Amino acid sequence: MCGIFAYSGPKNNAGEIVVQGLKKLEYRGYDSWGIAFSKEQKIDLIRKVGKIGEFNLEHNKIPESTLAIGHSRWATHGGVTEANAHPHVDEERNFAVVHNGIIENYRELREELQKKGYTFKSETDTETIVHLIADYAKEDTFVVAARKALKRLKGRFAMLVIKGDEQKIIAARRGSPLIIGVGDGEFFIASDIPAFLQHTRKVMYIDDNEMVVVNDKPHFYNFNTGEEVQKRVVEIDWEAESAEKGDFEHFMLKEITEQKDTIYRAINQNDSEILHLADEIKNAYGTFLIGCGTAAKVCHAASYLFSKVAKRHVNIVVGSEFPSHQDFLKEKSLVIAVSQSGETADTLEAIEVAKAKGSKVLSIINVEGSTMDRMSDYAIHIKAGPEKAVASTKATTSQLAILTMLAYACDGRLTEGKRLLIDTAGKINDMLNPRYEEHIHALAQKIKDVESMYVIGKAVNYPMALESAIKLQEVSYIHAEGFAGGELKHGPIALISQGTPCLALVANDETRTDILNNAMEVKARGGFIIGVAPQEEDVFDYWIKVPDAGNASPIVNIIPVQLLAYHLAVLRQNNPDMPRNLAKSVTVK
Ligand code: M6R
Repeated sequence: MCGIFAYSGPKNNAGEIVVQGLKKLEYRGYDSWGIAFSKEQKIDLIRKVGKIGEFNLEHNKIPESTLAIGHSRWATHGGVTEANAHPHVDEERNFAVVHNGIIENYRELREELQKKGYTFKSETDTETIVHLIADYAKEDTFVVAARKALKRLKGRFAMLVIKGDEQKIIAARRGSPLIIGVGDGEFFIASDIPAFLQHTRKVMYIDDNEMVVVNDKPHFYNFNTGEEVQKRVVEIDWEAESAEKGDFEHFMLKEITEQKDTIYRAINQNDSEILHLADEIKNAYGTFLIGCGTAAKVCHAASYLFSKVAKRHVNIVVGSEFPSHQDFLKEKSLVIAVSQSGETADTLEAIEVAKAKGSKVLSIINVEGSTMDRMSDYAIHIKAGPEKAVASTKATTSQLAILTMLAYACDGRLTEGKRLLIDTAGKINDMLNPRYEEHIHALAQKIKDVESMYVIGKAVNYPMALESAIKLQEVSYIHAEGFAGGELKHGPIALISQGTPCLALVANDETRTDILNNAMEVKARGGFIIGVAPQEEDVFDYWIKVPDAGNASPIVNIIPVQLLAYHLAVLRQNNPDMPRNLAKSVTVK
């Protein structure tokens, strides 16, 4: 949520570099944007409402400077206006601040500052930070003033501040991502690594409650204690191209297609570590799988896999609800946090709750070095590469693959589990061909104007029906709901009328007959049945073939739904990469 980017170095086109960096971060927030740089010892600003992707650098010259900060916004406090866009400045235009997160005590701080005579020009919580720093700076140096202000902020945040007459950026974070890219005598600061991958793969991680003063080199401090902190430069192995669209029209399609090989990458893990983690699960006094949105549906699916494959009960709780379950946590409990970004605020809070109880935490994450990665006792990296489309696709199936493998490992059948997944990966490779996509596109053409659609599944494919609904909702904006097939007759079947599309996710196992019967019940009421299944069935009005993948059926069944959602979005002229109202990493509660 909200993208932050900054540059400090010898180049005098810092503003342009920051705009280019923000364009790569647009998936984090895209309602407005802005940059700040120094001009004649004061702050100069460019702020606009709308997508930064539409800003043409050739037609809009940005004044020269060697340091600049920028922000693309996903509104929380205050509407989408130029006045609310970041950066925010103090009255004298000495300081500029960009910020991601929420300052929970901003009302008190604002009142205090208003009493002192400060006037606010925006409705944001961020503006309090800049006035607070300006207030302290009346008596203190820039660095001391920034530290004093940081100590007063409550909540999760990542922020940058610059001063018009000093060649330094102060960065700080608590709970929201912020990473330093180390170039050749130059530094980039961003909320996500892909934003500076074209410049450098060397990074320095900022931890919670740390501030960094970046000028000739970054100096790290704990802003609560003032102590200096030593940091290492870490080289990451993401390729710059992996964060680009290449020949694809959208990231979402690129990322769906990448599932031809992301499953292989996911399961390419150190076997002894997987077996060790399986032992942790077996020995835990209660295992809790937590995640939000799609990651929560993955956890839900995993609970069926652990039950069926490993005969083991695991609890599932969505991140935002987890604090209410803390009374069940023991020191020997294990929390498994599932997340693409590793930065989702609700999941992070759940981890904090678990850690406070002394429970161990295993994270299954995509972004290495993310907050979750760094605060967990154990981590499995799913290695899907950057996922930039807001709708999660390849990360979802990689998370499913890891959890399937863990379930098999818990039952002493790791090799069998890996064989199943390798076999499934090969089948996905065969499935994702242009003819397949054409078949799904034709279906999208047929149903693109419907008002509502439904998805049903049974057992492990029930959570996949819920996940299918998320996919369809977020990019096509068609009202979609997922149900356990058996639940329809208890109420939702009343929603079916002539021609209502209903996807049935079918696996070739003991659930097949039941889910086909449920589909039949929908068809009898006029429903248009779209079967996602290994074989054609009489009840289907439209059949999308998927390979017979045994216990890996959730992985193969969700992929055609991802494609359907994508094509519906494009046909309905929505931008599938940046759906309205959503952001890629949900770093606020
Ligand atoms: O980064 P995370 O996996 O923790 O994100 C969790 C959800 O915000 C995310 O899965 C969201 O539901 C996606 N937009 C779904 O496609």
